[in-house]
Amino acid sequence: MTYLMEHKDEEARLEIKTDPEVVKRQAAWAGIKPGMRVLDVGCGIGKTTAALAELVGPAGQVVGLDYSAKRLALAQERYGSDRIRFIHHDIRTPFHSSPPFDAVWARFILEYFRHDQLAIVGNITASLGLGGIACLVDSDCNSLLHHGQDERLQKTLEDIMGRLARDHDFDAYAGRRLFGHLRSLGFHDISCRIEPHHLIYGELSTVDAYNWTRKIEQSARVSGCTFDEYAGEEFSRYPSRYDAFVAECTRFFTSPERFSYTPLVICRGLKTPQLVR
Ligand SMILES: C[S@@+](CC[C@H](N)C(=O)[O-])C[C@H]1O[C@@H](n2cnc3c(N)ncnc32)[C@H](O)[C@@H]1O
Repeated sequence: MTYLMEHKDEEARLEIKTDPEVVKRQAAWAGIKPGMRVLDVGCGIGKTTAALAELVGPAGQVVGLDYSAKRLALAQERYGSDRIRFIHHDIRTPFHSSPPFDAVWARFILEYFRHDQLAIVGNITASLGLGGIACLVDSDCNSLLHHGQDERLQKTLEDIMGRLARDHDFDAYAGRRLFGHLRSLGFHDISCRIEPHHLIYGELSTVDAYNWTRKIEQSARVSGCTFDEYAGEEFSRYPSRYDAFVAECTRFFTSPERFSYTPLVICRGLKTPQLVR
């Protein structure tokens, strides 16, 4: 199945949305330290890989893994070095490494595999050494928690997420499942924390405006949603129901009255000698 967010502007979106300081803070919380050898799963354009490389310092190494040749080429060109390498791999098959990694970091990747998440966690942690850290990071209730929106907008967002789950294997609730994956794979010393991925109120920043527009437009387009909530006479001035939906989204998100958030679940655990896989 094609990556849900595949689009000519995906590299630009990843560039704009990724804050290296946030990655470093989250990874430090997970226990990733100077000197470690880390695997960055679903590394995209490598911006997260470079942030992890800063955290592990000159004595550490980071390998970025992705199956997009285009994004990997960009990552290699921007960040490739002795300490930062990039490998082409499809995580639907196990990834092994010798020597094994001290930590495996997987952020915003499991949500694209609603049905095979557990198998994928097994595939990526096959490369982790005993006692190594697995850190899984994903949103929960992705794009669904708002206040101040019209009911038809909420219904349409839920319809879009439902279709993405049914037809595109997308999991808007991946965050709440991370603990269960590590637990059922036998990881120990599991810790979880929640922080806001988006927390938007008052004036909309340029970065949030860009992120929401790209995310909503791409999801809406790919989902096959028919935007039935926008079929009435009151929307006849728009060229299509989709345009009426986008106009309403824009009105909602640009209003300083609205309140929107998406929780981010960060879950880390240690690989045990008795690990099941
Ligand atoms: C949302 S982006 C990257 C996010 C990045 N990890 C971060 O924290 O910002 C997801 C990445 O996963 C990659 N991806 C999707 N399916 C994959 C697969 N089956 N194997 C490897 N990479 C995959 C995509 O190419 C994309 O670059």
